[in-house]
Amino acid sequence: MTRVPDRLERAVERAVSRLTHDGCPPRLQAAVRYAVFPAGNRWRPRLCYAVAQALGDDRPDLTDAAATALELLHCASLVQDDLPAFDDAPERRGRPALHRAFGDATAILVADALIIGAFETVARETAVDPERVRDLTLAITRGVGTPHGAVAGQAWESEAAIDLEQYHRAKTAALFESATAAGAIAAGYDPDPWRTVGSWLGRAYQVADDLADEASIGRGSDAALGRPNAAHHLGVERSAALLDRCITKALEAVPLCPGRAAFQEFVRLIAAKFRRMALPQSAVPEAEERLSAAGGGR
Ligand code: IPE
Ligand code: IPE
Ligand code: MG
Ligand code: MG
Repeated sequence: MTRVPDRLERAVERAVSRLTHDGCPPRLQAAVRYAVFPAGNRWRPRLCYAVAQALGDDRPDLTDAAATALELLHCASLVQDDLPAFDDAPERRGRPALHRAFGDATAILVADALIIGAFETVARETAVDPERVRDLTLAITRGVGTPHGAVAGQAWESEAAIDLEQYHRAKTAALFESATAAGAIAAGYDPDPWRTVGSWLGRAYQVADDLADEASIGRGSDAALGRPNAAHHLGVERSAALLDRCITKALEAVPLCPGRAAFQEFVRLIAAKFRRMALPQSAVPEAEERLSAAGGGR
C-alpha cells in the first residue's frame, strides 16, 4: 500500500500540473508551484486520509481529490493571509512570502487559481460517485467560506470586538472539521460524528500556533502579533491546558468504527507534534518517530 505522504504528494502534483499546464502564463505557473511546494505540514489532507482509512477508504480517488482540494484551499488562505492588506508577512515556510517573491497582483491570482482548482479537482471525480462528490463539495465549502469558515475567520480580524473561540473556530477549526468530514464522506460514511473530532483538533492547532507565536515574538499586545492570540488572552499555562483539553475532547469524540484505535493513535501522535510546536521544552520526540514509522509523517 502506498504511504499516505507519497499518495498525497502525487495527488497534489497531479492537480498542480493541471493548473499550470502549457499555456498558463509562466509567472503564474511558477507562483502556483511556489504556494504549494515544498510541502508544509499538510495536516488537513493527512487528517482526511486518516479518517477515510479508518473507514475502509473504498473510493481512494475521492479521498485523493478531497485531500488535494483541502490543501490547495489551505495554501490559498496562506497566500492571502500574508498579503499587505492582511498580515503583511515577509516570510512563509522559511522563504519570502509569495507576494514578496512574485508581487501582490500575482499573489491574488494564485489564491484565485488555487481556490478554483480545488473545486475543479473534486468535480472531476463526479463520475466515480456523484452523490459523494456533491456532499464533499458542500462539506469543503463549509470550512472555507462564510458564515462559519476561514473567510469568516479572517473577517473577524476587521471587527472591533472578537470572541476568541468563535474566531478560532472559523479561522482554523472549520477547515479541520471539513477535513474529517470529507474523509468520512469519501469513504461513504456519515460525516456528522467526525465533524466534532476535526473541530477539536483545529482548535488545538490554533492554540498551539498561538503559543508558538507568543514564544517566538514575545509577550506583547495583540497588535504586535497582528491578531488576537490565545496565549495573551488566557496566559501560557491556561492555553497549554486548553490545548490538552481539545486533544482529549477530539479523542473522546472519535466514533466507533473499524479503524478507531488506529485513528486515535494517529491523533495522539499529531497531538505530540502540536505540543512540541507549542511548548518545545516538553517535546516528545519518540512519538514523532512513531508517527513517521506509521506512515503519517513526512
Ligand atoms: C498555518 O497553518 C496557519 C494556521 C492556521 C495556524 P499550517 O501550520 O498548517 O501551515 P503549513 O501548511 O504547515 O505551512
Ligand atoms: C492563517 O492565520 C490564515 C488562516 C488560517 C486562514 P494566521 O495569520 O493566524 O497564521 P500564520 O501565523 O500567519 O500562519
Ligand atoms: Mg492572519
Ligand atoms: Mg498570518
